[in-house]
Amino acid sequence: MTNEQRTQVAIIGAGPAGLILARLLACAGIDSIVIERRDRAYVEHRLRAGVLEQTTVDLLRSAGVGERMDREGLVHEGLYLQFDGARHRIPLRELTGGRAITVYGQHEVVKDLIAARLAGGDEIVFEADDVRVIDIDRDHPTIRFNIDGYPFAWLGILAQTPPSLDELIYAHHERGFALHSMRSPELTRLYVQCSPDDTLDAWPDERVWEELHLRLSTRDGWTLHEGPVVEKSITQMRSYVVEPMQYGRLFLAGDAAHVVPPTGAKGLNLAAADVKVLAEALVERYRTGRTDLLESYSATCLRRVWRVEHFSWWMTTMLHRAPGDDAFDHRLQLAQLRYVCGSRAAATSLAENYVGLEHV
Ligand code: PHB
Repeated sequence: MTNEQRTQVAIIGAGPAGLILARLLACAGIDSIVIERRDRAYVEHRLRAGVLEQTTVDLLRSAGVGERMDREGLVHEGLYLQFDGARHRIPLRELTGGRAITVYGQHEVVKDLIAARLAGGDEIVFEADDVRVIDIDRDHPTIRFNIDGYPFAWLGILAQTPPSLDELIYAHHERGFALHSMRSPELTRLYVQCSPDDTLDAWPDERVWEELHLRLSTRDGWTLHEGPVVEKSITQMRSYVVEPMQYGRLFLAGDAAHVVPPTGAKGLNLAAADVKVLAEALVERYRTGRTDLLESYSATCLRRVWRVEHFSWWMTTMLHRAPGDDAFDHRLQLAQLRYVCGSRAAATSLAENYVGLEHV
């Protein structure tokens, strides 16, 4: 069935970018439709990262969708970098003038946004097939596409057990990277670096726990809690940017425009930053007829996109072991990690990027 409906803004995709944009526009009295290829259960249960920057938390609150996040989200004032069998805390709040991150699953954000939209009487078209964009008028559109794959992936598990530490641990280890994160006081989220060619068959639970114990252990006898594995999946690592993020009247935001490796936990946060800029530009267009903010949308967003691509790449290369790495590469990583943990200036640089640079 072909559907024709008039609206002010058509949004393709009910992920965080599409749903936050729809919400920001609704708050400003602008009408939109949201079209999504998958069904509601799929988008509400697709497990993704769970770290919200301070900037994203502020944006969700100001859009009136922060209530459950404020109740259930876990505020973290620091994180740990681990290398050489010892853990070093980066005090995010202290280094950034009071800013922090909130651990709250991306699919929880998506659920809150869907509920708010439906409660407001607005629709989301799920399971839409064959979505096409027609008549995007522009004389000489260019789309530049950069893609950079990494020679490793992450095997992630969700385990029914309380987190083994109250904050995140990013661990560098000669066997490869590992990450300790969480979803709630009862659910731990853990990752180990694996090969991009690995399948889940190669990673029975016992092997995952064995690697996690090896990579996350410290010399002071700390122990990792085990528990039933309730979810297991492999995440590939990629970086890409589409430049410009606009094609005629089509504006790209979130994963449609860029993907970052998960090491900086930036995917959702970058999507939120894009649509904040886009919502302001659309509001101006509908209120005053002025299009200058829309015209500068791509350039404005790309400044942040490239900063975040760089931060994510930097965290990734500092913490992972690439297949051809030798002792020299390993020593360079350790030198960088020691510097980040030993220098207030270097730690501040990590912290301000991690909690999120101010929105423009
Ligand atoms: C997660 O909790 O899933 C998570 C946390 C931090 C990351 C990536 C993923 O950098």
